[in-house]
Amino acid sequence: MLNNSGNGSTRREFVKQAALGGAVILASSTAKALGANDRVRVGIIGAGARGTDLLQQLSHVPNAELVAIADAYSRNREAGKRFGDRAQTFDDHRRLLDLKDLDAVIVATPLHLHAQHFLDTLAAEKDLYCEKTMTWSIPEAEECLAAAKKSDRVVQIGLQHESSGALADAKKWIAEGMAGKVTQVNAWMSRNTPRGKGQWVRPVPADCTEHNVNWKAFLNGRPEREFDPYKFINWRLFWEFSGGNVTENMVHQMAWIMSALDLPLPSSAYMSGGVFSEKDGREVPDTIAVTLDFPEMVVTWESTFSNSRYGLGEHILGSDGTIEHVAGATDMVSGRSEEITRYFPEKINRAGGSALTSNTKDQDHMANWIDCVRSRKSPNAPVEIGYRSAIAAHMANLAYRQKQRVTLEMARAAQVPIAS
Ligand SMILES: NC(=O)c1ccc[n+]([C@@H]2O[C@H](COP(=O)([O-])OP(=O)(O)OC[C@H]3O[C@@H](n4cnc5c(N)ncnc54)[C@H](O)[C@@H]3O)[C@@H](O)[C@H]2O)c1
Repeated sequence: MLNNSGNGSTRREFVKQAALGGAVILASSTAKALGANDRVRVGIIGAGARGTDLLQQLSHVPNAELVAIADAYSRNREAGKRFGDRAQTFDDHRRLLDLKDLDAVIVATPLHLHAQHFLDTLAAEKDLYCEKTMTWSIPEAEECLAAAKKSDRVVQIGLQHESSGALADAKKWIAEGMAGKVTQVNAWMSRNTPRGKGQWVRPVPADCTEHNVNWKAFLNGRPEREFDPYKFINWRLFWEFSGGNVTENMVHQMAWIMSALDLPLPSSAYMSGGVFSEKDGREVPDTIAVTLDFPEMVVTWESTFSNSRYGLGEHILGSDGTIEHVAGATDMVSGRSEEITRYFPEKINRAGGSALTSNTKDQDHMANWIDCVRSRKSPNAPVEIGYRSAIAAHMANLAYRQKQRVTLEMARAAQVPIAS
């Protein structure tokens, strides 16, 4: 590893041992390029449940090191150190971003904080891995897209299915015309919990106290109030901090569909549903049916938290063939669960076609980001797909909250209510 060399040069400068005479050439890289073998120094903002998964993934990426953790909750700051025992810790993300010896930042905070952490990370000239959904609202998504376009930083969104082999195969099948004219896509996602225990509800740890939590940083401009440990831990259940299952899960599947078919922003959205499964004080619906209009295509997504039999999946329905991705659906005969992506020809228009199964390997989404930090290439889930999938998700939620069909123009002009 090239590190601070003691003579004022930094690791961004590279050292080449000349073949003749052993001369050392120091060349300063103003473009902040890292060499192919340079260690990438990573910080994380938000080392909670997902942040821990991402740190685990990072720990398997060669030559990447966790050097800093910012988290509003002391328990999670300390727990994150098991992935980097020398990592510096902060309860304010701005102190982390002040660090000079930091190349790249993972953001895995609650949804309402993504835009702040996204924009601050780019302003600090660090590369960024930002969890999905890219932002909590449409205006924030516009602002983040503009900032990313203006910056030369590498931005990966935590839409890991964009790195899947199934997506690569689906794109290839569609580009080769094997699906024909696609007019409809159906997608669904379903889960269940023991009766009386709502999906996502987490117990509040005893040490989740005002003393151990930077509550002001969590609120980040939301109306001030007394510390509420339940909302701090269970932010997903409340509109003020969350977009419910649409921003938690639909966004993954919608990004996959939009990428496979290269879809623009939806022209309009409808969404019905409600809090039907468990009346536990949550605001965001647990039962959902979304319809999104695209040019000559309708995409639907349904979700329930009271039945898990059919797992999740997408059906891309074309005149010449069907692309089916299913995961966790229960096979009627064997009872086994499986994840598989297949192509089936529509014999009426593709008489000679045969069925295919996707066999391209998945890429590691985290490793793809770190590779791009070094190569400066565009990662598998760049800001554009983060943006398009975020807009689709927010249009659906707006339609639900306004109880009407919402066009893209209406959605862009809407004032989003913070509370329900
Ligand atoms: N890509 C995926 O498959 C996937 C899976 C799960 C979650 N997620 C996303 O990851 C994000 C986090 O979800 P989670 O389940 O880990 O939530 P979490 O509540 O477990 O973790 C959030 C962390 O952020 C910290 N935090 C809160 N305010 C902060 C602030 N101002 N500064 C720094 N840290 C702060 C909290 O203390 C906590 O440690 C969400 O956006 C969620 O949608 C993505």
